[in-house]
Amino acid sequence: MSTLTRSPAWLALSAHQTKIAKRPLRALFNEDSQRFDKFSLQFGDLLFDYSKQPVDATTVRLLLALAEQQGLADWITRMAAGEKINFTENRPVLHIALRANTPIFSDGKEVTQEVKRVLQQIEQFVEKIHNQSHRGYSGLPITDIVNIGIGGSDLGPVMVTEALRPYHVPQLRVHCVSNLDGAHLSTTLQSLNPATTLFIIASKTFTTQETLTNARSARRWFLENGGNEQAVAAHFVAVSTNREAVSQFGINPDNMFEFWDWVGGRYSLWSAIGLPIALAVGMEHFRSLLAGARAMDNHFLTAPFEQNLPVMLGLIGIWQINFFHITSQAILPYDQSMHRFPAYLQQLEMESNGKHVTRNGEAVDYSTGVIIWGEPGTNGQHAFYQLLHQGTQQFTADFLAPCQCHHPLSRHHPMLLANFFAQTEALMRGKTEQEVRSELTNQNLSADLVEYLLPHRTFPGNHATTSILFKKLDPATLGMLIALYEHKVFVQGIIWEINSFDQWGVELGKQLAGRILAELALDKPITGHDASTNGLINFYRAQQ
Ligand code: F6P
Repeated sequence: MSTLTRSPAWLALSAHQTKIAKRPLRALFNEDSQRFDKFSLQFGDLLFDYSKQPVDATTVRLLLALAEQQGLADWITRMAAGEKINFTENRPVLHIALRANTPIFSDGKEVTQEVKRVLQQIEQFVEKIHNQSHRGYSGLPITDIVNIGIGGSDLGPVMVTEALRPYHVPQLRVHCVSNLDGAHLSTTLQSLNPATTLFIIASKTFTTQETLTNARSARRWFLENGGNEQAVAAHFVAVSTNREAVSQFGINPDNMFEFWDWVGGRYSLWSAIGLPIALAVGMEHFRSLLAGARAMDNHFLTAPFEQNLPVMLGLIGIWQINFFHITSQAILPYDQSMHRFPAYLQQLEMESNGKHVTRNGEAVDYSTGVIIWGEPGTNGQHAFYQLLHQGTQQFTADFLAPCQCHHPLSRHHPMLLANFFAQTEALMRGKTEQEVRSELTNQNLSADLVEYLLPHRTFPGNHATTSILFKKLDPATLGMLIALYEHKVFVQGIIWEINSFDQWGVELGKQLAGRILAELALDKPITGHDASTNGLINFYRAQQ
């Protein structure tokens, strides 16, 4: 048993869970009419309601005691001070420096000066593309931006450019290509003109197989369709920490936007990785995005823990994962433009906290991380909500929605939000046998039919959800929301005593793929793997 699961704060929470689990959420609401006021928080335009979670005042007190026991305050200070808390890679974790407006140092160096310099470089470039002084090889203005990256070098730009579509400048279209499947690049290029297309090759390491393969194919397409070697400079820029590899690839380092190893890939949209975002929405909105994140950073760094949104969001997750043993967390934005938000959080949360050993290298004996998935409402309602309402799996869900919309089509938005509120209420309350019986009896059904239908029409309820409402999905609010989840992940990693900032787990598959790629070209049956892998490879080869 680990020291964490034997610690006083953990044991107190375990004992408390057995008591509170006997009180359904319905009962908690019936007992206390002030529940919403007690268990919701506001910061800026953001409302965080965790009153539909199985908590009472004791739960909050005990969760805060756990945070204190685990030294959360101290770890926050260490992160903000630029300490190398990503110890397996010997790096600080300083994404907050990317949006700071006060100096932040690491290794005695003011990293915020560097950030400012690159932001200026981004600003100048965006200006040149927008005012059309940067033109393609034939003298035409750039109309299409293709970001080629994957993981953190893709999901942030995709998610944010989609979410901020109402803020896009009209003269540019932004496309993002990530998948190694040639279909992604080919279908994107189909409608593009090389003379008016700018490629951003985004890769922190500039060694990622998917990105470099797509980048090479994009360059080939460019050269085969009217471009030439001299024109590559005007049509290909890079975003990376690896100047040498950028230059080896054939992009002039003068056309490179730098970032630094202290920016984790999944925390990098605020850096030059955000170049497609800045191009799509303009620098003013990009700076608002940063300002929103900065406001959340300041809140996280200074607010008392019981009023601190990321801390409480993180602790509620711990409560669910470690004490109610849920393994599944739905992210359900009631906003179509946030359709990539669940995918973005998948990387942020699962790559950060999917770890099986503590900072000391000991195996954990408690769950870390959770399976994140989701879809925008109300589409999900007509797909997987059945299982949420009447299935047997345990889960929790975050519902997110703006109170004002960008597309006020007759009654669409009130109807959408009515569904949000109804779903969280239905999941919490369920429908008892008694309620179903009286409803069916009122429909004049026979007593036999009522009894027959009864079990199928009841809802167990007691499903915990968290609701996050915000005024409008503007750049600053989106920045706040993303930073909220970034810091939530930090809080949970500290409680679990893991390193949230490395990702060694993605390496094994990459290594094996390298070996198998070579085998696919061989002219003899493959026998060196397990029977299944051999069989799959040989079947594939037989079809070529
Ligand atoms: O999936 C592993 C990973 O290293 C992510 O952490 C990262 O965001 C992604 O690959 C892309 O890496 P890079 O930006 O170096 O190409």
